[in-house]
Amino acid sequence: MLNNINPTQTKAWQALTAHFEQAQDFELSDLFANDSERFAKFSAQFGSDILLDYSKNLITEETLTKLFALAKETELDAAIADMFNGVKINRTEDRAVLHVALRNRSNTPIIVDGEDVMPAVNAVLAKMESFTNRIVSGEWKGYTGKEITDVVNIGIGGSDLGPYMVSEALAAYKTRLNMHFVSNVDATHIVETLKDLNPETTLFLIASKTFTTQETMTNALSARDWFLAMAEDKAHVAKHFAALSTNAESVAEFGIDTDNMFEFWDWVGGRYSLWSAIGLSISLAVGFDNFVKLLEGGHAMDNHFATAPLEQKLPVILALIGIWYNNFHGAETEAILPYDQYMHRFPAYFQQGNMESNGKYVDRGGKPVDYQTGPIIWGEPGTNGQHAFYQLIHQGTKLIPCDFIAPAISHNPLGDHHPKLMANFFAQAEALAFGKSRETVEAEFVAAGKSQAEIDELAEFKVFEGNRPTNSILLKEITPYTLGALIALYEHKIFTQGVIWNIFSFDQWGVELGKQLANQILPELNSNEGVVSHDSSTNGLINAFKQWRA
Ligand code: F6P
Repeated sequence: MLNNINPTQTKAWQALTAHFEQAQDFELSDLFANDSERFAKFSAQFGSDILLDYSKNLITEETLTKLFALAKETELDAAIADMFNGVKINRTEDRAVLHVALRNRSNTPIIVDGEDVMPAVNAVLAKMESFTNRIVSGEWKGYTGKEITDVVNIGIGGSDLGPYMVSEALAAYKTRLNMHFVSNVDATHIVETLKDLNPETTLFLIASKTFTTQETMTNALSARDWFLAMAEDKAHVAKHFAALSTNAESVAEFGIDTDNMFEFWDWVGGRYSLWSAIGLSISLAVGFDNFVKLLEGGHAMDNHFATAPLEQKLPVILALIGIWYNNFHGAETEAILPYDQYMHRFPAYFQQGNMESNGKYVDRGGKPVDYQTGPIIWGEPGTNGQHAFYQLIHQGTKLIPCDFIAPAISHNPLGDHHPKLMANFFAQAEALAFGKSRETVEAEFVAAGKSQAEIDELAEFKVFEGNRPTNSILLKEITPYTLGALIALYEHKIFTQGVIWNIFSFDQWGVELGKQLANQILPELNSNEGVVSHDSSTNGLINAFKQWRA
């Protein structure tokens, strides 16, 4: 069980607070100038495919030693063991947290409530394999005898973001199927998606852990109506609808053949579910073998997280550096910046992964915390972000630690695109760290023949302070295996931070109030009465909405 340990009451926290007195003045240029071994000391390789460079952070060995002490004092090692051993560490939902079992390729038993979960995990994987192969090969026929050409995954949150992110990130490994992802309850999403599709050749995956989520059920019903408008006979639904869920009863009620149901379990959190049956769309998108390679990559990172010495665990290093900025430097956000177009949904995926996990103000003792917890996560692919929001990262007033992620080998080695992309990747982290001094700016002006008056007027605007921290994650190539490892790296970073912040990372009660109120408001939108049951703002908005539609 995770103990209730206020991190700010630990000795390590006091030591870090004292250390921060000098550490807040660290200059990356000095740290590098004073230590020619800095890159070697503050970088690490994972296998032969992933290099993490964390040397461009405002840390010294002393900072890290003190941060590791914090991890020890907050009993991180015990928490990791608890997760891997199936202890019910998601206490507010009384559940184990076992996405690691889904990718447990060594197949060692993992016991929950006295039962090994691995046989059930393997059975669902076998079912996913045979289903994927039948669909991809064309053996599976639609109700008029035609092959499936298009797959529409209907889900939201963890039942959408993970499968969508991975299917896009691995698009270079595509099968012949066209994948579509519908999430928003806004009809535009499903209407626009279905516009060019043919019910005879379309397969719907209804992806919902609970099978009660309003958005998904609404879209699923509209998809079924669209399908039946042409197919007419409800018996044809069996050839065109599959369900990915923990809720067999509601799946059957919806009319989906339970043969076409791919099960998972309450110990799989929604935002950690791409490794489960929720990953069926990934398997269809890139083939089952590649899905297994993704699991293998995740499993390799799990082994590293579970068994490497604390000081070498890459997820712990990333987590502690994040805590250093979040809780000592006062940073509020972190940017994730993939230099790979296929990875364009990676920041959005970890926006949910991180913010839904660690966006909590109540600690494990049930008391409000008096320190910062989860950061705001955001980001876009480079180089697009450079021409949009990097100005603020370089010259704004806020500290924004950034993760730069890029592959050395591109799946599309066209002309000099990749060297250009990568030159930007290296240049941005360098510019953020070391900036450009007033002297350099002035020298450039002089070389360009500018007058002293012009220099005096403009120089200050062109100075870059630098000293802005980054991690660089260089992958050999984005493959199913390296992507699996990278996702698991971030998952375990989030886990580590949640343990240290003394919060429960695997529930999400904060999403409930909005759902509850929307359910109350929905009937009010359909009544003819003016609405008076809310505050004046909400009443005013609802009544204006109703008037415009009257
Ligand atoms: O918004 C809350 C949430 O429960 C997420 O955690 C989850 O990923 C999403 O809704 C979808 O839930 P389900 O898979 O049950 O439809």
